[in-house]
Amino acid sequence: MALRNSLIRALAAISIIYSFSTPVLAEGEKQQVLEPGLDGTLNHIKYEAASTPPSEATISRAIERDYYKQKYMNTITDEGVDSLDQSSKRYWLLWCMYGFERHGIRYQNEIKKWAVRYAGISEKHRKIVKSSSDYEKIYDTVHDLWGINGQIAKDVVTHALAYYSIPRDELDRFILVQEYNENWDNQERVNEAIQHVVRDWATEGQHERATAMKTLTDMLTTHFPSRSVSQPARVLVPGAGLGRLAHEIAELGGFSVTANEWSAYMRLAYRYVTSLRKKESETNHPFLDWWSYQPSRTEMTRPVLFPDSVVPSSGPQEVVMVEGDWTVEFANDTAVYDAVVTFFFMDTATNMLDYMDTLSRVLKPGGMWINLGPLLYHDAAVEFSLEDWMDVAEKGYGFEFVDVPEEWGPLTLKSKKARNRDIGYMYHKESLRRNIYNAQLFAAVKKETDLDE
Ligand SMILES: C[S@@+](CC[C@H](N)C(=O)[O-])C[C@H]1O[C@@H](n2cnc3c(N)ncnc32)[C@H](O)[C@@H]1O
Repeated sequence: MALRNSLIRALAAISIIYSFSTPVLAEGEKQQVLEPGLDGTLNHIKYEAASTPPSEATISRAIERDYYKQKYMNTITDEGVDSLDQSSKRYWLLWCMYGFERHGIRYQNEIKKWAVRYAGISEKHRKIVKSSSDYEKIYDTVHDLWGINGQIAKDVVTHALAYYSIPRDELDRFILVQEYNENWDNQERVNEAIQHVVRDWATEGQHERATAMKTLTDMLTTHFPSRSVSQPARVLVPGAGLGRLAHEIAELGGFSVTANEWSAYMRLAYRYVTSLRKKESETNHPFLDWWSYQPSRTEMTRPVLFPDSVVPSSGPQEVVMVEGDWTVEFANDTAVYDAVVTFFFMDTATNMLDYMDTLSRVLKPGGMWINLGPLLYHDAAVEFSLEDWMDVAEKGYGFEFVDVPEEWGPLTLKSKKARNRDIGYMYHKESLRRNIYNAQLFAAVKKETDLDE
């Protein structure tokens, strides 16, 4: 922490000196906005009208962003595809890019297999299908539309190569080696990240976001009435996925928001989608991959436009994305955040107590923890019921629960301040199947005395 603070101070000093030593722009001259382009070149550099010098809040966001980026970049310096250790972060990043790069072709090959299955039906059945519908067109339609999805996935890779300064040749060679060794990429994870684009960054995902995110942002607004741009409340959103909630909080103003995500699949998609500068500039066909539960072919092939919102890449409302396991990345941070918001996240822990340790350490005394989500464990060491978990948070970690908005209905348990609602997670809203959780909403304040104990 001390090292980080001194680094941040040093960087702040350099930025301030730099801002004074930079020649003043002549009238009408433009400022560069340095963002990696989708084509991986710098030809896309955009110019914006020069305005007033950046505020301190802007500088501090930029410093934090650069600090965490550099910290991550230092962990992926090991080059040489053949010698890369499978546990290395560079290997992991290349592995995820491999999945995105092959997204189009893998599904197009799957569709061929489906077509072969259909080809096996009897002549009589085929005649019935042909005379009553144009069902057979589906194979070509989906094959073509999947080409569009595949191109989006390749754009994710192109953006990532530029962002992480990884040469294209290195990825190409990495893929060659993996395919030669028959190490097949994980399309399930790629698909999950791409589906999250709908949840987070398309109007289509509004049915999942609206109630949940509005509740969380309203609770923060109410709890931090005197925050300001110069004295922002610091908020951490761990396990942020594609980050929409973090950006919604930043949008409120007066919050300095740090998001965090462990999965490189999610981070690659996040970096790409938040780099897009034009609203609804991209099109995807996200419902093609699973033909079960489709109400109609029109619905299944329907395009979805994204992003529905363009996020600031600098300024006080910029969100800083910290890459990695939050129990590791924030291991040296004590009493840094005024609030931690856990949204469909805490149950991802293999040991919830590790998460509780991190949570209670990074929060300032008096800081607020807001949680919304289900309890879906994945072979965890500890699988608490809601009641057990809240007891542990209260008695083991010194959290004091406060009531949450009553419109969330009656208390889930008479003795605990948690309320619940059915909240959807990653489902196509016209689908014949609904993926809904009875998500638990609660809020707790970290007691002032806890740090001294
Ligand atoms: C169920 S998803 C929810 C994502 C997001 N909060 C949302 O609601 O869309 C949980 C996320 O937590 C991430 N995650 C899991 N373990 C993590 C860890 N130790 N540190 C940071 N992120 C983690 C996963 O990669 C995944 O993106």
